[in-house]
Amino acid sequence: MCGIIGYVGKESAAPILLEGLRKLEYRGYDSSGIAVMNGSNTIHTRKKKGRLQNLRDLVGENPPEGECGISHTRWATHGEPTDENAHPHLDQSGKLAIVHNGVIENYQPLRKALEAEGHVFHSQTDSEVLAHLVGKKYEASAESDATPQMRLVAAVRDALKLISGTYGIVTMHADIPGFLVGARLGSPLVVGLGKGENFLASDVSAIVSHTSDAIYLSDRDLVYMTDSDFKIEHVEGGSVEFEVSRVDFTPEQAEKGEYPHYMLKEIFEQPTTIANVFRGRLSDDEASAKLGGLNLTPQELRDVDRIVLVGCGTASHAAMAGEYIIEHLSRIPTEVEIASEFRYRNLPMDKNTLIFVISQSGETIDTLAAMREGQRKGHRVLSIVNSVGSTIARESDGGSYLYSGPEIGVAATKSFTSQVMMMSLLGLLLGRMRNLSMREGQRMLAEIRDLPAKVEMILQQTEKIRAIALKYIDAQGMLFLGRQFNFPTAMEGALKMKEISYIFASGHASAELKHGVIALITEDLPSVFIIPKDSVYDKNVSSLEEVKARKGPVIAITTEGNTDMEDIANDVIYIPEVDECLSPILSVIPLQLLSYHFAVARECDVDKPRNLAKSVTVE
Ligand code: G6P
Repeated sequence: MCGIIGYVGKESAAPILLEGLRKLEYRGYDSSGIAVMNGSNTIHTRKKKGRLQNLRDLVGENPPEGECGISHTRWATHGEPTDENAHPHLDQSGKLAIVHNGVIENYQPLRKALEAEGHVFHSQTDSEVLAHLVGKKYEASAESDATPQMRLVAAVRDALKLISGTYGIVTMHADIPGFLVGARLGSPLVVGLGKGENFLASDVSAIVSHTSDAIYLSDRDLVYMTDSDFKIEHVEGGSVEFEVSRVDFTPEQAEKGEYPHYMLKEIFEQPTTIANVFRGRLSDDEASAKLGGLNLTPQELRDVDRIVLVGCGTASHAAMAGEYIIEHLSRIPTEVEIASEFRYRNLPMDKNTLIFVISQSGETIDTLAAMREGQRKGHRVLSIVNSVGSTIARESDGGSYLYSGPEIGVAATKSFTSQVMMMSLLGLLLGRMRNLSMREGQRMLAEIRDLPAKVEMILQQTEKIRAIALKYIDAQGMLFLGRQFNFPTAMEGALKMKEISYIFASGHASAELKHGVIALITEDLPSVFIIPKDSVYDKNVSSLEEVKARKGPVIAITTEGNTDMEDIANDVIYIPEVDECLSPILSVIPLQLLSYHFAVARECDVDKPRNLAKSVTVE
């Protein structure tokens, strides 16, 4: 939610900031702005409502000159998306600029108090309050012997003491050329270390074309920097430990290349990303999986008697699939909690309960808070995360990375299949320590190894799936129905459809149809049935027939060779045969392609759907 990037160096800052914002636009895209400082003690600000292109057009006419600057792409929390509410915000003097990601919960009383002192505000945002507070503290220290740099650092510290909420901020003052101060609490901030230049950004994708050396700041870290030096301290003062990491992906991986959209690129990456999850993690000798990062001894793994999987959005659907898979393979009772519910509901858990938090970004605030709540209660919380170096990855007690590369399309695709793949490995590992036979384990290994080729076969049907999507282009709603392992897939299919095409869609367990959903069926409401030839196939067919009997059009996703569906369903998409517990990894692919082609045909912005953001870092 909101992307920020700051630059201090020897190059012209504006093009670097605009390019950085392009990489961060997935975090929010309702307005954007930049502020650049030059040697003449002035800050030049440009802000524009709407997509980044609007800001580019504005800056193109009159680019601000200077080698130090800050910028922001916004996902509105307080105040509508307008030019005035876009960041950066200035203080009362107009000499201090700030960009902020997060929420200042007590901004109203602070703003009232500042207004009573004569401060004039120009926006409805919570963030502008912070600009005024820092500026006020800076000016109050005018008589101090400290350098202007250290006065600004102290002003940031003092202002942050007054606020409650979350922040990732970068600020600069016109009187101090070439100097940036940043801090974080609850919202991510990364330091990029270049040669004769330094960066601060919400994530490394914004800076990877300039440097691969990054420091992932921790909560309550404060950083100040020039083009050749930097210092990281605790917000309250005192030194902190930090580590310089190498960014694990190339600038090209964060581009969409030959594809028209990131979402399509990421759908087509899945044969590789699924293989990335299991590469080096399969053991033929033990007919099992190896997940070293869990940091648990074999005995500790054997002692686990309950698993709780926690996530939001697509990650929670992957967790639902994980619940079925882990229970099936290991017989360990497993349940799914949506992170925002888990953190407040005080779930009873004993010492042998193992918690997994699942997150593509590793920054989702509810998932992070759920993890900390679990840890506070003395539980070991492990993570399944894609983004290397993210807050959840760093703070969890162990876990496994997905290694899927950057996922930029707001609608999650490859992260879902990677998360389900990872939970299948977990189920296999835990199962082989319990009742799963060597023979079954070996069969699972073979099934897992075959998955990438099978995904490839489904991807080859993209044109056929596009034709089906076009057939239903006027639909105002869509149902997604599946059972057992594919009930979560139905939920995920519906989420994809509604988030990128803006039609109403809902996912259900097929047999629930007759408990209410069937009332919706008309000849105008298509139903997508995920109906592979599995152990519940016949039951699923009965539900499908009930829809057909009421003239509802049906798109069936079924197993290759099952020609029965040709006679019953209006349209059929085939997936290769696979062990039923792994089938969500295949059956979700046609659903991703269906929603993609449907949304493109309806001229929706599939990579940046309205009102959404990729990484939800506010509650
Ligand atoms: C947002 C995104 C979803 C994502 C969810 C959880 O809602 O739009 O695509 O599934 O956050 O994100 P995470 O990074 O924690 O997996």
